[in-house]
Amino acid sequence: MANILITGASGFIGSFLVEEGLKQNHQVYAGIRKSSSREYLKDNRIHFLEFDFSSRAKVLETLEYCKKNNIRFQYIIHNAGLTKAQKKTDFYTVNCQNTIHFIEALIEANMVPEKFLFVSSLAAYGPGNPHTGEPVRNVHEPKPIELYGKSKLDAERYITALKDFPWLIVRPTGVYGPKEKDYFVFFQTISRGLEPYIGFKKQVLTFIYVRDLVRLIFLALASPHVNKAWFVSDGKEYPSELFAEITKKALGKKTIRFTVPLFLVKTIAVVGEKVAGLWGTIPTLNTDKYNVLKSTNWRCEIEPLAEDFGFEAEYDLEKGVKETLDWYKKEKWL
Ligand SMILES: NC(=O)c1ccc[n+]([C@@H]2O[C@H](COP(=O)([O-])OP(=O)(O)OC[C@H]3O[C@@H](n4cnc5c(N)ncnc54)[C@H](OP(=O)(O)O)[C@@H]3O)[C@@H](O)[C@H]2O)c1
Repeated sequence: MANILITGASGFIGSFLVEEGLKQNHQVYAGIRKSSSREYLKDNRIHFLEFDFSSRAKVLETLEYCKKNNIRFQYIIHNAGLTKAQKKTDFYTVNCQNTIHFIEALIEANMVPEKFLFVSSLAAYGPGNPHTGEPVRNVHEPKPIELYGKSKLDAERYITALKDFPWLIVRPTGVYGPKEKDYFVFFQTISRGLEPYIGFKKQVLTFIYVRDLVRLIFLALASPHVNKAWFVSDGKEYPSELFAEITKKALGKKTIRFTVPLFLVKTIAVVGEKVAGLWGTIPTLNTDKYNVLKSTNWRCEIEPLAEDFGFEAEYDLEKGVKETLDWYKKEKWL
């Protein structure tokens, strides 16, 4: 049993990390903000800690409170992060700068844990080579294609340059599961009888079901490994049509299939970004998103997961999508 702090505990992945921590009988500290929803954090064994990562001094206030109350963390999972932002600078501020404040405060307060696990993303490395189809590997040079990925890579670079700091990094591919709100839009579109594709080139997608990801994260914490990074996917590759097929089968739906040409998506992204830019915001479909949508190779290496942890995903897309859709239906999202 260990003391574990999980930041971003109120979010999709965070709430599953909390659930897994409790299942494994750890003392779980949910790192949240004043404004965070506690909708998925109802278990009365959860300890709550409010963090403000906007400055090192503010993080120190919470750490000093912990020290006074004899709270020390063996493990920290720094999962708080932004996957979508209102302003372009928000990605760097939240994903990188806040991580730096957090780590500096841990060092200053002499509260460096036995392991600090940073939840990065495959986006930090960007997609694989579209011509060879080779998976993205640790040995490759990172080539993020959008600001989100760049901000995760900046944070990784800060962390990996630290001396005597016991970091671990996971870089999940697309994570799906109950409570998730982005893939949900796709599931909703299929359930409405529409099957959209973007561009005519075949896209290969990869996924990891949220329960497999959290299991892997806890295996990494309990392992002897330190100062090491892993990509995480379920090890399978899914052409985008297969993702749609699996969803249609699980929903029992027939669909109208259509393709939006890339040039049209790009035009909407560029114009939308210019207009929204007048108000200092970014539209949902922006040039970064366009870069992601047009990338065809999202394979990543998973062999080290088997070598280091004997990890094999329990969920493939078919099993995970079924469980996810059952949850959406039960909660009346669909
Ligand atoms: N979902 C994916 O496909 C995926 C893939 C790879 C990596 N990841 C990474 O996994 C992590 C969790 O993502 P998610 O999908 O679970 O997203 P999510 O549901 O949006 O959760 C994000 C969490 O981060 C917190 N957070 C956001 N901005 C913050 C700030 N300025 N200060 C403190 N906390 C802040 C949120 O708190 P509030 O509730 O208060 O807003 C929330 O708890 C992120 O680091 C993300 O980059 C996700």
